[in-house]
Amino acid sequence: MAYVDPGGASLKTENQKYFSKTPSSLKMWKMARELTPFGVHSNYRFTRPYPVYFRRGIGGKIVDIDRNEYIDFNMGFGALVSGHANPKLVHVLKERLENSSVLGFEDENSYTAAELINKRYGTDMVRFSTTGTEATMHAVRIARAFTGRQKILKFEGCYHGSNQDLLFSVKPNLDDAGLPARPSPVPAGPGIPEFMKKGIAISQFNDLDATTEIVEANQNDLAAVILEPYPMNMGVIVPKRDFISGLRDLCDEYGVTLIFDEVKTCGKFYGGAEEVLGVRPDLKVLGKSIGGGVAVSAIAGKKEIMENVGPGAISHAGTFNSNPLSMSAVVTSLRDVLTRQAVEKAQRLSDTMAEGYGDLLQLYEIPSTVPLAGLSGAISFNMSQPQNWREFLRGDIGRWNYYYLSMMNRGVIPAGPGADEQWTVSVMHTEEDIEKTIEVFKEVVPRISLRYPLLGVEESV
Ligand SMILES: Cc1ncc(COP(=O)(O)O)c(C=O)c1O
Repeated sequence: MAYVDPGGASLKTENQKYFSKTPSSLKMWKMARELTPFGVHSNYRFTRPYPVYFRRGIGGKIVDIDRNEYIDFNMGFGALVSGHANPKLVHVLKERLENSSVLGFEDENSYTAAELINKRYGTDMVRFSTTGTEATMHAVRIARAFTGRQKILKFEGCYHGSNQDLLFSVKPNLDDAGLPARPSPVPAGPGIPEFMKKGIAISQFNDLDATTEIVEANQNDLAAVILEPYPMNMGVIVPKRDFISGLRDLCDEYGVTLIFDEVKTCGKFYGGAEEVLGVRPDLKVLGKSIGGGVAVSAIAGKKEIMENVGPGAISHAGTFNSNPLSMSAVVTSLRDVLTRQAVEKAQRLSDTMAEGYGDLLQLYEIPSTVPLAGLSGAISFNMSQPQNWREFLRGDIGRWNYYYLSMMNRGVIPAGPGADEQWTVSVMHTEEDIEKTIEVFKEVVPRISLRYPLLGVEESV
């Protein structure tokens, strides 16, 4: 059942549908881009032909300004594992707002929030911040201070927020990226000072041999190895177990701080990636889902490292850190909403959706894989499951763009906007949401096997 005709005509039809379905968004975008670059306040939100503007979300659904309803599997780029407007959170946060959202001193709930984080994620001490970007920035500085060294090793294709220290080789073009075993640091766009390259070393995810050589070559300078344990800024990459345990051994051998960036993964498994991988990092960075939709992040880890943060020692501060709104949100999300039972139920729904996708892709003989990680998964139009950024790039992005656009036109946002994103199933999605999604995919899949013009991956974030 292989289809070979070119997909330009199908793509055109879907584009026309998109325009006729979202006229208010088009109007809004034309106005917004006069005041805001590209009409969006985060580069990741810009989509072609233009971004849709939204009004409200409830449970697993989201409504745009033309009143179109979508089943949402972007879920705030993974921030909303609790679901949109989760009633338990709405109740607590309304009450909290009536009693002030910034006290300017420590909030009484910050103790309970810290206790919940440490217990769930296996850490000794924690400091709260507001965004993932800030938290990776602090984590890297803490590691530099603790080890007295400067250099950080990160992996090609991993994203750690708009943190300048780590804005290298996020989505590098292969022309600039160097040899696979010895990648060059590629700044993620202009404005990142040349001298910062000296502070960074790059390796390929899932390649322990190459990473070992790079760590050995930098052993006197290396402060930290930072990674997304399941990279989720190149679809979904499943880590090899011996790669992760090998990194732990390497860091132990050379006195390097191992940092897991769990900004996304902390919500994809009940206890984060550490729980499934069985490897304990020295520091971890949490964000997104822990706040149930309120901006909050955390730097957490071993006491011997974290106890060095403080006045006159390692810097960490922020007006909005541990504000009452975010602390109430953390306590309610972790204690009452993201229970093990609820997370396991969401994972079953995610598995069912993956199975539905996989069966149809196989039926139509479309070269693809569906890598999974807890509540997330991604359709990857690759011959085999990608292991790193360079393999991810071999996927058919044109096909992915067609899949995304045509699902959206039929009322499903199947993932974050971009082949480098993935779906997130929340604790408020239902079996009907999954059934409807697969029904929609049935309509779309026959045309996915066509060849589509490539719009390309945005190179800078
Ligand atoms: C793994 C990872 N780390 C850090 C960040 C940055 O978090 P934030 O957008 O809250 O600054 C992101 C954002 O998507 C992320 O995916």
